[in-house]
Amino acid sequence: MEILNTAAELQAHTEKWRQAGKRIGLVPTMGALHEGHLQLVRAAARECDVVVTSIFVNPTQFNNPDDFRLYPRLPEADAELLGPAGCTALFLPAVADMYPQPTVLHFDFGALERVMEGAHRPGHFNGVATVVSKLFHLSRPHRAYFGQKDLQQVTIVRQLVADLSFDLEVVAFPTVREADGLAMSSRNRRLDAPARALAPLLYQSLQLAEKMVRDGEATPQAVRQAVREFLSSQPAIELEYIEVADAHTLQPLTDWQPGRPVALCLAAHLGGVRLIDNLVVGR
Ligand code: PAJ
Repeated sequence: MEILNTAAELQAHTEKWRQAGKRIGLVPTMGALHEGHLQLVRAAARECDVVVTSIFVNPTQFNNPDDFRLYPRLPEADAELLGPAGCTALFLPAVADMYPQPTVLHFDFGALERVMEGAHRPGHFNGVATVVSKLFHLSRPHRAYFGQKDLQQVTIVRQLVADLSFDLEVVAFPTVREADGLAMSSRNRRLDAPARALAPLLYQSLQLAEKMVRDGEATPQAVRQAVREFLSSQPAIELEYIEVADAHTLQPLTDWQPGRPVALCLAAHLGGVRLIDNLVVGR
């Protein structure tokens, strides 16, 4: 596996592959890789000729300086995991290389970003859209892989690709979970033992909500309330939001829309760590 440290190197390598007719898969990450990331890389390796994985803790998408500072950074360990997963090149740029000058461009994704993560993390999706656009321009992938774990992110990336005519296919990969149901996340490393023991309750609360949606008796509001009550039994878990939304538009539901999938999305703090999770329920 090659390691590319500059935007110019990434551009030169991917251009060469394109000229040679290779199909390029891109897996953007912020590192501290876990099985969820590695499954994206393996899927890319199955479906493309070459796979570029980027590791870049993108400063413009963090609205909380502590979260940026404490974000785990393990480039050596990450590099060792990527080769065996089928990655061809690891792109590991410095901040100054991705942002040679401060960006002034602002994205507005309208209603899509006025809910959930967009509403609770001002500027977050502006930073994501900026860095993802840069990565798309630099590597010109045929396919770009994202996790459903960040449902709003992949929805916004699809909108970005459509609005700016990026000539690539966005692949949304299902959420990879620990055996006890906790969604894998780089932030899980920061959970201490008591917080880690409670963390699966987040997924359990979504499963409870899923059952209520499938049964079809409760209203969306009653589903939100049931999740709040379920998690309130553990004072160490501070629920930031639970949303019951249309899975395509991500807008909150007041009534069920026949035939449309429902997204159950939450964010919660425990042990000083902010975690998100979601489940999409087909109907
Ligand atoms: P990061 O949190 O490192 O995630 C990189 C990719 O892995 C994202 O597409 C994310 O949805 C996916 N992912 C994370 N945990 C997953 C899991 N448990 N199962 C499946 N996929 C999972 O998301 C980002 O980085 C950044 O915002 C980025 C897109 C790289 C832009 O900076």
